[in-house]
Amino acid sequence: MKKIIELIEKETAEAFWSCGYDAKYAKVTLSNRPDLCEYQCNGALAAAKAYKKAPMPIAEETAAKLAANTMFSMVEAVKPGFLNFRLNEAYLAGYLEEMRADKNYFGLERAKEPKRILIDYGGPNVAKPLHIGHLRSAIIGESIKRIGRLLGHEMIGDVHLGDWGLQMGLIITELKERKPKLPYFEEDYTGEYPKEAPFTISELEEIYPTASMKSKEDEAYKDRAMQATFELQSGKRGYQALLSHILDVSVSDLKRNYDNLNVSFDLWKGESDAQPYIPAMVQKMKDDGYAYLSEGALVVDVKEESDAKEIPPCMILKSDGASLYNTTDLATIVWRMRDYKPDEIIYVVDKRQELYFTQVFRCARKTKLVDKDTKLIFHGFGTMNGKDGKPFKTREGGVMRLEHLVSEINEEMYKKIIENHTAVSEEEARKTAGIVALSAIKYGDLSNQASKDYIFDIERFTSFEGNTGPYILYTIVRIKSILAKYEEQGGLNPDARILPAKSDSEKALMLELSRFGSAVESAFSETAPHKICAYIYGLSNALNHFYHETKILSEEDAAARAGYICLLMLTKDILETCIDVLGFSAPDRM
Ligand code: ARG
Repeated sequence: MKKIIELIEKETAEAFWSCGYDAKYAKVTLSNRPDLCEYQCNGALAAAKAYKKAPMPIAEETAAKLAANTMFSMVEAVKPGFLNFRLNEAYLAGYLEEMRADKNYFGLERAKEPKRILIDYGGPNVAKPLHIGHLRSAIIGESIKRIGRLLGHEMIGDVHLGDWGLQMGLIITELKERKPKLPYFEEDYTGEYPKEAPFTISELEEIYPTASMKSKEDEAYKDRAMQATFELQSGKRGYQALLSHILDVSVSDLKRNYDNLNVSFDLWKGESDAQPYIPAMVQKMKDDGYAYLSEGALVVDVKEESDAKEIPPCMILKSDGASLYNTTDLATIVWRMRDYKPDEIIYVVDKRQELYFTQVFRCARKTKLVDKDTKLIFHGFGTMNGKDGKPFKTREGGVMRLEHLVSEINEEMYKKIIENHTAVSEEEARKTAGIVALSAIKYGDLSNQASKDYIFDIERFTSFEGNTGPYILYTIVRIKSILAKYEEQGGLNPDARILPAKSDSEKALMLELSRFGSAVESAFSETAPHKICAYIYGLSNALNHFYHETKILSEEDAAARAGYICLLMLTKDILETCIDVLGFSAPDRM
């Protein structure tokens, strides 16, 4: 469906044109003075300059053309030359009915030429527990993926595991120290390796930090770990077998954690998957004359004349021939292009990696790893801070594990729910607490512009009032309860429909509903889930205001009552669609 703002603009453009002015002046915007009007056009002011006339008569002429238009209940020219609009109530009700008839998309204009977009988010590191640094990537990336899907794009999520590098050598070294008799360490072992991993996830999570600490204190230990890393990367059989165990154990634990966050990936590729593509890629960069040796290292220049600050060359291989994080990201682009040929690749990564990605993107473009029109987009996010304004920590000052953070908030929510309802069963309270807690965490994050740092304030995020996830869920639950009561009274007649608004609060709600398409479209085009949050916060406020001012179930006129119910159903459906793209859901009661 065309958006209301576009439809107003079309009518206004015709009015300008028929009065002898260029239609380009008919730009319509949402009103910034909702007390005076709903939409406005300031075009007469610009037209006045072009046609060397006073703006007011231009506004008056066009307003007169629109006076009889059934789309509006008011078109007014006001000084010094603004056009103010109010929509006709019957027109607005008709528009919402059309939205309601489109059961899944509510009139959303879906992509006519869907794009294929690969989105790189998550980025957890194997054998290290997920910590809150990975939370933002997961939450934001999942939401961008879902917004794209709602609009009909083909979104492919890739977790891009950190499964390559010294951490693997460290684990192998520590394991060898503890269990030297394992067949993986036998030099001339040719048999099959055991199917069962020689460690559990909790052992693995303990092994890595221990090994990492030892390597910092003990040079010889570190050398052994580097040697093990090298042997693993050169394909040593026993170590490769250990790597698959590490991956299996770690990935199943990661999946469980991401499941709890309602986050899922289409691809579980890792840095290790890029390694086979490195030799040919490097050779080609050399052959094509892009890569050259500089102080022993192989580099590609990526600076550009217009750069305000110096962008250092992109290093492809270190002087000892070892590959780097860069090399892996470039080689990952190789297989992504070969296997998926995406129109865009979006990276949802900490904004401190921005310069790094500038180098990688320029290098990929220069060495032609991507097509000319493939977009590479860095979507950097800020840091999640504690109330003290410093990166979020545990009470003891350590790195907070994601799992612990989630259970802490679940507990907080559980207490609140038990306080509010004495009649609720333990099981239901726990379940509801989990659902509401997830909304608190995700909405708390997504309602901020991603690139900004934000303060993770548990008390504020879990509040049922204000701009929070639980407030949005509370609104949905409120509607569900009214709908259930209406159902008990006999339910909805199939030809019930939304009627023209009779009060300001009803019209305000209807206007908010009509803006669903604009909200989703701008959230997608600006990669900005916070726009969806702002939209549903406004919509929830409008709904609650309407609710407080209107007798809904006790309305005597049956058609009016049914009209309200239709309006509530549409509100609930739109709110639920929006929270689904934010990556959470609503309980039936709370
Ligand atoms: N594993 C990395 C980290 O923990 C994030 C990976 C981001 N994605 C990428 N393609 N480099 O910092």
